[in-house]
Amino acid sequence: MSNLWGVVPAAGSGRRMATEVPKQYLRVAGSPLLEHALQALLACSELRRLVVVLDPTDRRADEVASLRDPRVATVAGGLERADSVLSGLRSLSDVAGADDWVLVHDAARPCLPPEDMRRLIDAVLASGCGGLLAQRITDTVKRTADGRRVVATLDRTTLWRAQTPQIFRWAELCAALEQMQQQGLIATDEASAMEQAGYEVQIVEGSSRNFKVTVPDDLPIAEYYLKTTVAARL
Ligand code: CTP
Ligand code: MG
Repeated sequence: MSNLWGVVPAAGSGRRMATEVPKQYLRVAGSPLLEHALQALLACSELRRLVVVLDPTDRRADEVASLRDPRVATVAGGLERADSVLSGLRSLSDVAGADDWVLVHDAARPCLPPEDMRRLIDAVLASGCGGLLAQRITDTVKRTADGRRVVATLDRTTLWRAQTPQIFRWAELCAALEQMQQQGLIATDEASAMEQAGYEVQIVEGSSRNFKVTVPDDLPIAEYYLKTTVAARL
């Protein structure tokens, strides 16, 4: 049976949040966003090691209790999210086998429901095909030519919002992300690099709770989800 490793990119600066503190350290429902994300992942006993990718100049990591968990290691990130993910993946080279699975999850998704993560892991391990959580699009989606003039209405039944976690085989994911980097392309998620490299990628339907905290208006929504999830477990 292949091992399962984890990488959490948490080295961004949160430009769209526009707070002085990078968004992964903003406290919501009593803890930093990063802490909530790590707790959701560490609840999964199959995860052998979780590499958290940080900005090394940032001292705020000391306030994130789960970074002291024995399964957690930290490494320095890079300029783009994909650079940070690659740095986390490479740090696993002493322990990860080529066919081992790696789960990548954004620090900025603090409300990951445990049952969604379970479904994704089960689907990937059962089929041997890497994949990601994603959410059905419920809005009608338009394409514009110049940012204003509508040129098309897309068929939303074929469209999905990609989330994380995303799980792929360690060596294949490293090579796919490196290939995009060499081509000067920026992969905004792991699946896009895997698609580009020609691999099959499966979608596992997730819930809207697992949204990415990006702008200030997202904070009260995360707070609500985190408080109601915790209350539901009590
Ligand atoms: N991330 C990272 N290294 C980077 C950029 C992003 O590790 N160079 C991480 C973020 O910390 C976040 C995740 O990737 O957990 C998703 O990225 P995003 O939501 O875009 O976060 P930021 O890049 O920090 O935000 P923004 O794009 O608004 O600046
Ligand atoms: Mg970003």
